[in-house]
Amino acid sequence: MRVLGIETSCDETSAAVLEGEGDDVSLKSLVILSQDVHSIFGGVVPEIASRAHLTAIVPVVEKALSDAGVTRIDAVAVTNAPGLVGALLVGVSFAKAYAFANKVPVIGVHHMEGHLFATALEHKDATPPFTALLVSGGHTLLLDVESWGTYRLLGKTRDDAAGEAFDKVAKLLGLPYPGGPHVERLAAATTNSGEFRFARPMVRRNQTVADPDFYDVSFSGLKTAVLTAVKQSNLEQTRGQIARAFQDSLIDTLVEKTTRAARQFGRGRVVLGGGVACNATLVAAMRERFEPRGVQVFAPSPRLATDNAAMIARAGLFHLERGERSELDLNAFASQPIPGLVAA
Ligand code: KG4
Ligand code: ZN
Repeated sequence: MRVLGIETSCDETSAAVLEGEGDDVSLKSLVILSQDVHSIFGGVVPEIASRAHLTAIVPVVEKALSDAGVTRIDAVAVTNAPGLVGALLVGVSFAKAYAFANKVPVIGVHHMEGHLFATALEHKDATPPFTALLVSGGHTLLLDVESWGTYRLLGKTRDDAAGEAFDKVAKLLGLPYPGGPHVERLAAATTNSGEFRFARPMVRRNQTVADPDFYDVSFSGLKTAVLTAVKQSNLEQTRGQIARAFQDSLIDTLVEKTTRAARQFGRGRVVLGGGVACNATLVAAMRERFEPRGVQVFAPSPRLATDNAAMIARAGLFHLERGERSELDLNAFASQPIPGLVAA
């Protein structure tokens, strides 16, 4: 089956062509147009994002089809939740019209399920069963993935997502948006965190799985700790150390929670996804923790970690192969639980 994937949930207009069956797929093309305009405002401006998608969607899809060297596809997969509704609607409306005109089925895809499939596009063994940590700008999800389509939601953030915490801390440190890569670079260039050490949120000794915060994370307190440190020091001298202390705390927390999940379910694989999975320090810390235990860690390359339509085509293919289809009344939703959830 040949699937056209479309992603417009935030500030990337993306289209991709994917061909294959089950886990045996090949990516024929991937086009990602990033809307850099938002960096002027220090965050994504929804109305600007929708308008930019509208201008870009036709040429982006045309380029994906021509890069793949195809004129016919068998189905269209499109992100329809969660995300900015106005932005999602551009992709959803285009996908429905394209599918109707070409007499092919359309399938709505949950953006985070897309992130879950991204790593498998590059790593043949990043397939279930595995423990998944999805860390993006809008979500932080810790899942046990028994098989594609069967997900146990173990933990999530109670406030800021991991990427959002990076972006907000970057702002406090006077770094550009999106902040993740800037904080990472600054932290990596700083030998140690000096006098700064921030508590690991929701990580305590003697916690048990019966505790409601055993798997959940929370980063708003960490952000406040950064704010206090910024106010009480001369930022020109401490910027690097604070970035380092923040990143150390956030990464330690994610590594600890992921370790608990992999241990409870006896998983031999950990799969990372979402924009924060671009963070090489996070990936290295996961490897350092898991590899001595014989657990493999898989992370997508930056192009597939951040928002892209290849992962949407891949998740869509899975649903299409199960015989699922969306109707032409497919709508966009700002929030929606990931499909396939089973009781934890
Ligand atoms: O998955 P994504 O592209 O979009 C959403 O679905 O939200 O993730 C974007 C997020 C941003 O918050 C960005 O700062 C973060 O990923 N990010 C990083 C890095 N690269 C991107 N965070 C930490 N370190 C990085 N190297
Ligand atoms: Zn995303």
